[in-house]
Amino acid sequence: MIPVIAIDGPSASGKGTVAQRVAEKLNFHYLDSGALYRIVALSAQFQGIGETDENKLNQLTKSLRIEFKEGKILLNKQDVTESIRSEECGILASKIAAVKSVRDVLMNVQHQFKQHPGLVADGRDMGSVVFPESMLKIFLTATPEIRAQRRYNQLINKGISANINDLLQDILERDRRDLTRKESPLKQTPDAHFLDTSALTIDQAVNQVIQWFSDVSN
Ligand code: C5P
Repeated sequence: MIPVIAIDGPSASGKGTVAQRVAEKLNFHYLDSGALYRIVALSAQFQGIGETDENKLNQLTKSLRIEFKEGKILLNKQDVTESIRSEECGILASKIAAVKSVRDVLMNVQHQFKQHPGLVADGRDMGSVVFPESMLKIFLTATPEIRAQRRYNQLINKGISANINDLLQDILERDRRDLTRKESPLKQTPDAHFLDTSALTIDQAVNQVIQWFSDVSN
């Protein structure tokens, strides 16, 4: 049996950082499922495919060669690690993520990440749809204001100018889309632990996840 830790939550909640650190500590594989939707969005934009063109999006998603290598994300051998992180790409990803046939193709891609000795997967539907058998499920969140502030700090640290009110509006709009869509909406499953990181440091959040994991492992 390969253990999976599923960490789901809204945009900019910090789940990616927490999931990555937990994976490092446990020496597990890591799946950033949001990156897959962002890659589809980037390619669709590049090829001029509309966010509602289900047939073309399905063909496109099937044709993508995605690799996660030494901390870099490669699309058809090109490094897209930075370019998929833009706000614009995140917004388009959340629109394309509502398309069922895109989700179906990415489901198989995601299952391939489940390998020994274990996997930490972060996203919106890791515990509810993609890995319902997960040994540990976590719903990780923070208030929209804190999430906007964290995203703002991230951008400013990278030297990218940003407006906190615009970021807050984007986050609220993305939450609405992710929570209300028909296909695999973001939701906390009854068997998931709730982790509000609004008042926690990254280390505290990581330690909490490790503690829960050791509780279920013993
Ligand atoms: O997590 P991240 O912000 O990178 O995800 C980008 C978008 O991809 C999200 O807003 C969401 O709509 C979509 N997504 C999803 N299911 C996942 C991960 C991400 O629908 N498992």
